[in-house]
Amino acid sequence: MAKQPSFTCTECAASHTKWSGRCEACGAWNSIVEEKPLSAAGPGKKSLGSTRGKAIELTDLSTKDNPPKRTVSGVGELDRVLGGGLVDASAILVGGDPGIGKSTLLLQAAARFGRNGMNVVYVSGEEAAQQIRMRAQRLGLESSPVKLAAETNLRDVLTTLDKEEPDLVIIDSIQTMWVDNIESAPGSVSQVRAACHELVTFAKKRGCSVIIVGHVTKEGAIAGPRVVEHMVDTVLYFEGERGHQFRILRAVKNRFGPADEIGVFEMTGRGLTEVKNPSALFLSDRDKPAPGSIVFSGIEGTRPMLTEIQALVSPSPHSQARRTVVGLDGQRLATILAVLEARCGIPFAGLDVYLNVAGGMRVHEPAADLAVACALLSAREDHALPADTVVFGEISLSGALRPVTQAENRLKEASKLGFASAITPVQKKLPKVDGMTLRMTDDLVSVVNDIFGAD
Ligand code: TYD
Ligand code: MG
Repeated sequence: MAKQPSFTCTECAASHTKWSGRCEACGAWNSIVEEKPLSAAGPGKKSLGSTRGKAIELTDLSTKDNPPKRTVSGVGELDRVLGGGLVDASAILVGGDPGIGKSTLLLQAAARFGRNGMNVVYVSGEEAAQQIRMRAQRLGLESSPVKLAAETNLRDVLTTLDKEEPDLVIIDSIQTMWVDNIESAPGSVSQVRAACHELVTFAKKRGCSVIIVGHVTKEGAIAGPRVVEHMVDTVLYFEGERGHQFRILRAVKNRFGPADEIGVFEMTGRGLTEVKNPSALFLSDRDKPAPGSIVFSGIEGTRPMLTEIQALVSPSPHSQARRTVVGLDGQRLATILAVLEARCGIPFAGLDVYLNVAGGMRVHEPAADLAVACALLSAREDHALPADTVVFGEISLSGALRPVTQAENRLKEASKLGFASAITPVQKKLPKVDGMTLRMTDDLVSVVNDIFGAD
């Protein structure tokens, strides 16, 4: 049988049987590349099942081993995202847009772990050693015990590490490393996967932790971090808007701790500083109520966090109205607009819609649906809600409002920050929260009629 060629999307790692300009799975353009198999099982080669391997020992689930040893960095926000410190011999991927601050974060983390007694090696394939030293100096870390190398050949890196026996290795970035027994260029899907595989194997065999940096890319030729997410124990993404000083480190996968946990940092002239109590950080100064601005009481990881969702709705001069979203999922906006139109009879056709989460924060929770809908209604009807109101709730396609998790925590945090009322779905068994007046509704139509008085 002729072998099927394999094509992989460098954005979302979906596989395809043929090349196309746009990935059907994630919608990215020009992101599909051909992937050559590492060793083709050609004619005459036997399948694995036809010859015998060695028997492996099977064990049961009980363990007498202690929980894995962790080392804390002392940077609370980083340790929190890691699930309470860095687990020995774990592999961590830190993804993020170029220039967001990954190298800065990891150099600071390397210095902290080094000072806490770990033997730390920082390998950069992106910058010259002198550049990193200058950054270290700027961050006031030049005397920290971190061993530095600027190298891209992974064979040389691994040989060095074998001799050095470090406790922690930082590889900045996986896209610059190359494995010399693979033909394709550094940054290609096969190179990135092979390099990551080598590093993870090294980590497990030598009991050393590895932190691997991966740039999120918009070009098809370079593989993004998603193609190696499955190989590592922990996947963290460093997010934020370039124009804002706040950065969020988010755990999207963690074999040793809760996923969805976030750490909040501020980018200053002297590197990243942690923000210990971020719940009110993303609220702009809101003395006066403003149409289109709604405060959403969300949960990020294990902490409640209040964010401001802003909408602007204006008549469109274009034949196709604009939908511009920053900090929220565009598909979610499309769904909410469709529900408002189909279930509540509020059309947005011919209107440009701009939606924004203030302060560069990104909101992933479905519990933000009702806040988004309220922001859209408030902007469209030019009707401001009182400035002391928070909103949360999930909207179903039928227009019903679904209860959300941790409603009490959301309300308590809002009350603590001086909010006095909340618009929420009907939440059963919700204890009374001091100082909060609730307006519970079970469908979006009542919100439209009773709160915004739209016709
Ligand atoms: P960097 O860590 O190089 O980003 P990445 O590794 O994700 O590509 O950080 C890049 C930006 O951070 C750069 O534009 C300058 C800014 N920065 C500061 O604002 N303060 C600092 O102390 C440092 C080191 C960088
Ligand atoms: Mg960098």
